[in-house]
Amino acid sequence: MDTLLDISHIDMAFPTPEGGFTALKDVDLKIKKGEFVSLIGHSGCGKSTVLNVVAGLYQATKGGVILSGREVTEPGPERAVVFQNHSLLPWLTAYQNVELAVEQVFGKTMSKPAKKEWIEHNLKLVHMDHAMYKRPNEISGGMKQRVGIARALAMQPEVLLMDEPFGALDALTRAHMQDSLMEIQNELNNTVIMITHDVDEAVLLSDRIVMMTNGPSATVGEILHVDLERPRDRLSLSKDAHYNRLRSEVLTFLYEKQRKVETIKNKTISTGTTAKTA
Ligand SMILES: Nc1ncnc2c1ncn2[C@@H]1O[C@H](COP(=O)(O)OP(=O)(O)O)[C@@H](O)[C@H]1O
Ligand SMILES: [Mg+2]
Repeated sequence: MDTLLDISHIDMAFPTPEGGFTALKDVDLKIKKGEFVSLIGHSGCGKSTVLNVVAGLYQATKGGVILSGREVTEPGPERAVVFQNHSLLPWLTAYQNVELAVEQVFGKTMSKPAKKEWIEHNLKLVHMDHAMYKRPNEISGGMKQRVGIARALAMQPEVLLMDEPFGALDALTRAHMQDSLMEIQNELNNTVIMITHDVDEAVLLSDRIVMMTNGPSATVGEILHVDLERPRDRLSLSKDAHYNRLRSEVLTFLYEKQRKVETIKNKTISTGTTAKTA
């Protein structure tokens, strides 16, 4: 396999007051150019930690990340991140938010008119050209995520890292965003790692779904190859037997093999005649 991104035998331990907490143990994953890979797993298993190590925000305790033959040691624009909460600067317009990223990456190499064209092109890709001069508080949550994606794409990253990018959106908006992302990926052939806990989203968008075991010491449990033809259409897929088989494999992993037992701290506070549970 022609590997673009090599997440090589990563351990990640965090110092805590009670000693080291091993969040990840021997996470090993190779991703090739143009691949769309989803990370799925229960909340708290370590998905964001994997992404943060790839982003260069965390340094792995053991192992490392190699992108295009270079070791990742710090954050860089070749690994653009889209977070669940848009993280746009509120005092800047959509255009200016994208411009900031373009200046960072192409400040010295692109002419002024070329930059303008490039910013507009990327906002158009996410269908935000009609609201370029609006500020984040003047647009919806879905639109803010669109701008966040435009900003990431405008950096022309080698790999696009997305941490539950649509997690805060309502179901219909999320479906629109997924369709847009598929369209964009079809056009640009980006390499993407996306974290999700939405099984349908994972199957619809991915070439591979990496299913993580529960933590501590979380690792790659199983990898599912999603060999559905592209372009994919959610409506026809919902009636497709193979789609439903793939979907049920992920569900089985999550809810049978890695069933999460929530530990709820039951503190009984006696308040006279009634007992409250907090
Ligand atoms: N900076 C940190 N310091 C200590 N523990 C952390 C830190 N970041 C994450 N963790 C712990 O690592 C585990 C995995 O977290 P995370 O990667 O955020 O999970 P997920 O994204 O799958 O919900 C959790 O138990 C979390 O509490
Ligand atoms: Mg997370």
